[in-house]
Amino acid sequence: MKRTECIFPGSFDPVTLGHLDIICRAAGMFERVYAAILHNPEKNGCFPVPEREEMLKACCAGMRNVEVVTFPGMLWELAQRLNVHVILRGFRSGGEAEDEIAMARLNAKLLPGTETVFLPCEAELSCVSSSAVRQIASFHGNLHGLVPGIIEQKIREKFGY
Ligand code: PNS
Repeated sequence: MKRTECIFPGSFDPVTLGHLDIICRAAGMFERVYAAILHNPEKNGCFPVPEREEMLKACCAGMRNVEVVTFPGMLWELAQRLNVHVILRGFRSGGEAEDEIAMARLNAKLLPGTETVFLPCEAELSCVSSSAVRQIASFHGNLHGLVPGIIEQKIREKFGY
């Protein structure tokens, strides 16, 4: 069981500065960070998984101990496959605690030995979420401060502005 590695799971639809804040801080604490795009093959997101992967990889290219993976299933199964039992989640606010703690307990039941650790995001990023980015993009709004410049460009291309 590797305790020096962690999985940072998410939908990353699309990656935001909030995700990157957590990934960057995790990369300074763990030997390896798996930034894992979890997806349900029966559900379509806004960005197809290969596009999400390409965007996340572009953002993580400078972090040598961060590996981007995609997985069409449940988190416990990915953790088992990678033999990584530390899951990292970011907190934007206390309001997220209930759901996050329930998910942590479920994952510990599904794969005993799994620990979930939480990092609070930087205060100025607490309003940033992928769903807010998608909504703003659908109205052709300004994404500065929410996503990196290279991602803003991709989003603008997709939403035609
Ligand atoms: O970026 P998000 O939407 O907050 O990420 C949520 C995600 C993908 C981490 C979560 O929905 C997840 O783990 N999905 C995979 C299914 C699973 O293992 N669920 C947890 C126990 S039911």
